[in-house]
Amino acid sequence: LIASLEQVDQTYIMVKPDGVQRGLVGEIISRFEKKGFKLTGLKLFQCSKELAEEHYKDLKQKSFFPKLIDYITSGPVVCMAWEGVGVVASARKLIGATDPLQAEPGTIRGDLAVQTGRNVVHGSDSPENGKREIALWFKEGEVCEWTPVQAPWLR
Ligand code: TYD
Repeated sequence: LIASLEQVDQTYIMVKPDGVQRGLVGEIISRFEKKGFKLTGLKLFQCSKELAEEHYKDLKQKSFFPKLIDYITSGPVVCMAWEGVGVVASARKLIGATDPLQAEPGTIRGDLAVQTGRNVVHGSDSPENGKREIALWFKEGEVCEWTPVQAPWLR
């Protein structure tokens, strides 16, 4: 009852091309599944330069921006939408710090990556950006609203 009064958020999680190339897709999906969030969208996708630039538009002035766009478009990514109470901040914790060498062991980046420019996964930084990014990466009808048959331990 209390959980039902809380705000349910959405976050956009993406396995970056290095994660796909290294065979880490299952491992990364598994972290969010085991935590107890609800998967509402999932696809393998080769993105255009335009889409990558729109996704990272806030970083356009950064010196690393061109390399970031080359990296994100270098191969297919796995796009995911996840839903739950507190999912945005919790997913950021599960992912760990931007620089994988600073990320805590136990986090995805802390366990699986060493370079900022190859940090295997993206997660939205606010509920607003979660909505924005899901709308950007998924077409109408690709995100699936569903109710778990029985899972009172999840929220
Ligand atoms: P940012 O949004 O700051 O980090 P996060 O992914 O943790 O939300 O940056 C987006 C991506 O840009 C980051 O995952 C990797 C890349 N990046 C660099 O290549 N070099 C840098 O110095 C920074 C800060 C980010």
